[in-house]
Amino acid sequence: MTIIPRLGVNIDHIATVRNARGGEHPDPVAGAYAAIRAGADGITAHLREDRRHIRDDDMVRLQQLCESENIPLNMEMAATEEMLAIALEIKPKAVCIVPEKREERTTEGGLDVVGGYNHIAPIVRELTKSGSRVSLFIETVEPQIRAAASTDAAVVEFHTGAYAHALDDGNTEAADLYLQGFVRGAKLAHNLGLEVHFGHGLTFENVGPVAAISECMELNIGHFIIGEAIFLGLEGAIQIMRDRVTDAREI
Ligand code: PXP
Repeated sequence: MTIIPRLGVNIDHIATVRNARGGEHPDPVAGAYAAIRAGADGITAHLREDRRHIRDDDMVRLQQLCESENIPLNMEMAATEEMLAIALEIKPKAVCIVPEKREERTTEGGLDVVGGYNHIAPIVRELTKSGSRVSLFIETVEPQIRAAASTDAAVVEFHTGAYAHALDDGNTEAADLYLQGFVRGAKLAHNLGLEVHFGHGLTFENVGPVAAISECMELNIGHFIIGEAIFLGLEGAIQIMRDRVTDAREI
């Protein structure tokens, strides 16, 4: 039986548009509801330290919505005491730990699980104990994958940003090298007992080869879907993305 990867829709940038005017519209929780109706398998939201898009009350309301819709909420967060306390309170079904720098425009690079092991592993343990399924957002570098596997994390999400940038720059050779790394990394992670997800910078055009990787169980996609919703509506954008993912798997 062909397994089609789940599509997690990241709704951060609905909040970006809301916050541009400081009011309540458009509400990211209403956007999450529309995304669920349109076929999202999960909702992802990143509570950043600077609250530039999603705010604390959004996260609480997203959890209430996802619980009532029986859809997993994937909370992305930095490995800080502040975020840990919030996640332990909200108890999202999934937590993805990401690196975070205040000055970055978006999440650049993967988490350094090797260097930060003593800090990250106890946070993963606490979140897992509290009932959240933890994923670590890393590059497909063997020592990082092995370090992730030796925490209590159930999942790794591989960062596809550099692959997406290589294709934007027309550098298909570099993109192919990244893809080969994804395939190797996915096999290693799977053999070490980790579920494999991918995310960042994915679009209608570049998602296919990533979705085709047989170990890929979930894709988390935000900016492109929310941007494309301006032209196609959320339902249209999610439907086409789902079709691209399904086609990649069924060929
Ligand atoms: N996965 C992770 C861990 C992320 O940090 C992000 C960005 O918030 C995404 C996926 C989605 O990336 P994009 O918005 O580029 O689709």
